[in-house]
Amino acid sequence: MPATLELQRIVYCSQAARPDLALPLLAEVLAVSDRNNRRDGLTGVLLISRGRFFQVLEGAAQNLDRTMNRIRLDPRHHDVELVSRRPIRSRRFGEWAMVAARITPQQQPQIDAVIDHCRDAPEAAVDAARALLDQQIAA
Ligand SMILES: Cc1cc2nc3c(=O)[nH]c(=O)nc-3n(C[C@H](O)[C@H](O)[C@H](O)COP(=O)(O)O)c2cc1C
Repeated sequence: MPATLELQRIVYCSQAARPDLALPLLAEVLAVSDRNNRRDGLTGVLLISRGRFFQVLEGAAQNLDRTMNRIRLDPRHHDVELVSRRPIRSRRFGEWAMVAARITPQQQPQIDAVIDHCRDAPEAAVDAARALLDQQIAA
């Protein structure tokens, strides 16, 4: 398979420019991401807590590069830090072009933990994000 078509997963975290606008901003970002990511064959999850974003994106390397280039330039956040990029055999978030976990008071500590461990344990953070969504599906 050519490298550009290889399925990869990337994980990054960043700092929201305006933490006070977190929820309306998230809705807008999700709508555009859903549209673009469907077009580009990307799937993933976006979490936000205490003014920090955590995002997982999966898809063909070339489409990940193009999307990350746009995301990096977005003034709605800064300090975009890519913490993991690796080839994958299968998607973990294949059901969603982009999904956000609903933030309930019960889940707030879990979301905080995913974001806090983004840098030192990105793969564990991916697992925790998936577990969070599974809990929401089951609820
Ligand atoms: C935290 C964050 C996550 C984003 N995630 C995505 C994404 O997964 N896909 C995407 O196309 N745009 C995403 N965006 C939006 C891009 O930065 C950019 O605004 C958008 O891709 C432009 O799309 P357009 O050229 O179709 O208007 C994200 C923005 C932020 C702030």
